[in-house]
Amino acid sequence: MEELKKIISDFIKNLKENPGTIFGFLYPYILTIIVIIGLYYVANIGDIAINKTSAFVPDTTVIADLPVVQARTVPPVDIFKMKDPTDELIQKGKELYTTNCASCHNETGAGGGPAAVGMNPAPRNFTSPDGWKNGKTLSAIYTTLEEGIEGSSMISYNFLTPADRISIAHYIRKEFMPNPPVDTDDDLSALNSLYNLSAGMELPAQIPVSTAMEILSLENAQKTIRLEDALKTIDSNRSIYSVSLFKSIVDNEKLALSSMINSDTWRSGETAFTDFVTVNIGQNGFSPKVNYLSDADRNLLFSYLKQIL
Ligand code: HEC
Repeated sequence: MEELKKIISDFIKNLKENPGTIFGFLYPYILTIIVIIGLYYVANIGDIAINKTSAFVPDTTVIADLPVVQARTVPPVDIFKMKDPTDELIQKGKELYTTNCASCHNETGAGGGPAAVGMNPAPRNFTSPDGWKNGKTLSAIYTTLEEGIEGSSMISYNFLTPADRISIAHYIRKEFMPNPPVDTDDDLSALNSLYNLSAGMELPAQIPVSTAMEILSLENAQKTIRLEDALKTIDSNRSIYSVSLFKSIVDNEKLALSSMINSDTWRSGETAFTDFVTVNIGQNGFSPKVNYLSDADRNLLFSYLKQIL
């Protein structure tokens, strides 16, 4: 016991005379604490560094993909022959109006149809002279049906044929407007050339973006397989002359092969092949040495690559 007291009092005395030594004793403890904090930090780095609120996730239920549309020909129309409302046009227009427009514009043309509740802006009252944005002439209504009205529920009706749209416009004008304004010949010519009415239209087919992506990724997968096969073949043909020739004129073997897989133009003949390899040297994986191939070597290479790709 005496011993211990002596050791402690010596220790304290020593510290008093030479306070700097305290750091020597504290050092291991401080170091241990720093290491523990460090280990804790590293072990939990995921929680500390990762942003816990997830990024904005779009509501995909709202974004509809494109529908499938068959390619179709929109027949040409002669707007000058159709500028006057015949009984036939009015009859056709009435049918189309009832199925396509009455839900918003009402059977009476006065707006306030069953689907129009709470709509802002409200569907146009065709019987009122005021507030028209495009106008009441035949060509103005045609424009509205072609383009729709931005910022409103009046969408484009360009899926109806031009003839159908003209007949609806006649129906609205005749049935709901007291004195509909008449188009000038200039109005009609302008409409005709703006929308190519007398030429008709070829509307291309359309497929959903998701389907297009699937087709693309399928094509890519097939290309990857072709590339892997070609690399394997080249590897197993290492000792033949065509392969050493190939290796001597490419900078990037994989790139050279995949640019050939991506394009079929070079297959049609030796000239096309020469054009293909020399035109985009560098970008297509071939090296400038390809310019110095002898005709015989180039032909050999062409037939070899055609065979393995
Ligand atoms: C879903 C509702 C809805 C349907 C269906 C609809 N419309 Fe409209 N339409 C509107 C609204 C809303 C406006 C007003 C837009 C504005 O003033 O910005 C409007 C405006 C119009 C105008 C006035 C354009 C102008 O110059 O101000 C015309 C013409 C028109 N529609 C024709 C039609 C025809 C023809 C159909 C059927 C092929 C049709 N609409 C179907 C909602 C609809």
